[in-house]
Amino acid sequence: PAVPVLTIDGPTGSGKGTISRAVAERLGWLFLDSGALYRAVGLAASWEGLDFDDQEALARCALETDIRFEDRPNDDPLVFVNGAEAGSDLRTEIAGAAASAIAAIPAVRAALVEKQRQFRQLPGLVADGRDMGTVIFPDAGVKVFLTASAEERAERRYKQLKQKGFEVTLDTLLRDIVARDARDTGRAVAPLKPADDAVSIDTTGMSINAVIDAVLALAAARG
Ligand code: C5P
Repeated sequence: PAVPVLTIDGPTGSGKGTISRAVAERLGWLFLDSGALYRAVGLAASWEGLDFDDQEALARCALETDIRFEDRPNDDPLVFVNGAEAGSDLRTEIAGAAASAIAAIPAVRAALVEKQRQFRQLPGLVADGRDMGTVIFPDAGVKVFLTASAEERAERRYKQLKQKGFEVTLDTLLRDIVARDARDTGRAVAPLKPADDAVSIDTTGMSINAVIDAVLALAAARG
């Protein structure tokens, strides 16, 4: 039988990252932060000074960039981009915007398909992203789609970034989130949308633990 996969898709700030990592830890499964792959490619492309209109160069960059994760308990995994630890650079809004821009290019997405599927290993995988349930792992046994109001998502990002020492304003974050949502849902290739067989959870006003429990309950019911 295929290696089990639980996909968690949703917009930025929906809590996917925190929830996915916690669920993976509780299940003892591997964890794929697919957004980090897109961020890593965006970062590598900026380091190399690539033209963001040159789709071929960007696709080559996606294929050739060496991206490795080192999981850490209760923390974001360390991410190595071409050998250099880039964890905190990846979390910046600049890397997020670069990721979102290159993620709209079909050849870039195609270049990352196999890299993502390689994470599917025993005992199982929790995959976090935008198209995990629709494109990358369409046969996943459990598919979750997390949402929350844009205001609440902006507030969550605000707290997260403040805690990490970044200078940001709530207004800018909200504007960024609305723009990123529009780009991610409006793009022609692999737009952000729930898979037909996904269970949607609106996390507005829910605690992290309540969401984790809801996802684990789905896993237990289907697993
Ligand atoms: O999830 P995160 O905010 O780290 O993702 C950064 C950007 O990468 C998203 O805005 C989205 O455009 C893109 N992305 C994607 N498909 C994924 C994961 C991320 O298009 N599976």
